[in-house]
Amino acid sequence: MWPNRLVVSIFFLFLAIIVGIEADLPQSVPSLSGGNSKKDRQKSEKLPPCRACTVLVSSFREGMKRTARSKHDGGDAAWEEERLGSYKTSELRLVEIQEGVCREIGRGEDQCHQLAEEHEPLIEDWWKSYQNEQPDLQQWLCVEQAKVCCPDGFYGPNCDPCPSCFGNGKCKGNGTRKGNGKCACEEGYAGDNCDSCGPEHYEAFRDAEKLLCSNCHKACAAGGCTGAGPNACRVCRSGWVMDSQRGGCTDIDECITANTCTKQQFCVNNEGSFNCLECDKSCDGCDGDGPDMCQKCADGYELRDGMCTDISKEVPANTNESDPEEEPDQEEEEQPVNDEL
Ligand SMILES: *[C@@H]1O[C@H](CO)[C@@H](O)[C@H](O)[C@H]1NC(C)=O
Ligand SMILES: *[C@@H]1O[C@H](CO)[C@@H](O)[C@H](O)[C@H]1NC(C)=O
Repeated sequence: MWPNRLVVSIFFLFLAIIVGIEADLPQSVPSLSGGNSKKDRQKSEKLPPCRACTVLVSSFREGMKRTARSKHDGGDAAWEEERLGSYKTSELRLVEIQEGVCREIGRGEDQCHQLAEEHEPLIEDWWKSYQNEQPDLQQWLCVEQAKVCCPDGFYGPNCDPCPSCFGNGKCKGNGTRKGNGKCACEEGYAGDNCDSCGPEHYEAFRDAEKLLCSNCHKACAAGGCTGAGPNACRVCRSGWVMDSQRGGCTDIDECITANTCTKQQFCVNNEGSFNCLECDKSCDGCDGDGPDMCQKCADGYELRDGMCTDISKEVPANTNESDPEEEPDQEEEEQPVNDEL
């Protein structure tokens, strides 16, 4: 009776598809081949060893929190406590924690499950024998037993102390068994211990423990500065000129020295540079923005009250309103408004 079987198979295939779609619904677009893109990629992501161990420990700690106020923890179950031993350190609670460990953590979830399995004997050992003496599971498991992390402020295979980096950088490998312990200085800082200022920065503050470097003024070229402001530059950037009398860099007004704008533009100086902007269309040449800054009025415009005004669409001056049907008022008033926009 194979046609019947076929029907049944097809039925189950559809059922599977529907169930599959339902199960995948909360995520984006489901794919029946199981490539659930972003979430899956995050789950299978492989974290560096110390990070992976730390993730496992945090998930375990979550489990401890989750089981902290359990049914066995109540005062009314005192007899049970005695019979089972303290629930707090019981095998039962450990099993409950282990069951939920690594769940729903996203990044590195698969690796976390692997690691949990691998370290199960160690974690059990800690649970039974060390959790009171050494309550810091991260230190016990990741630093001392698995030897994948170092305490904060230590780096490398032997957990050597990190340099201070003067608070202006990070020690490479800090807290892990990796790295070389060199400082990675923040932007603007330099030196093995990040205890000097980088290029184009100056010392804004320094005492025994702290150093603060700030950006040189934008007037300063490479070569830096001795302090704040354009007067402290060693060399001026282009667009600025060293003022030998005042000392320091002064902005060049290119609108005076090198105005390269066209006739239908006006020049605006700014610090270190200049801009050419288009004249108002009512102008034939201008000294600034707007119909009141024209040198001459453009064709079709006439100077009225100091402004070049559109006259091209105006009704010739001597016609009068003897014929009310023409209603020239509306047109006359709307047109200039539109033109100004
Ligand atoms: C090392 O890491 C700890 C903890 O994240 C941090 O407090 C400390 O400043 C770091 N030290 C250096 C030198 O990066
Ligand atoms: C209006 O036009 C008429 C005829 O063209 C003329 O007689 C009259 O003086 C004009 N009025 C005004 C106010 O210009």
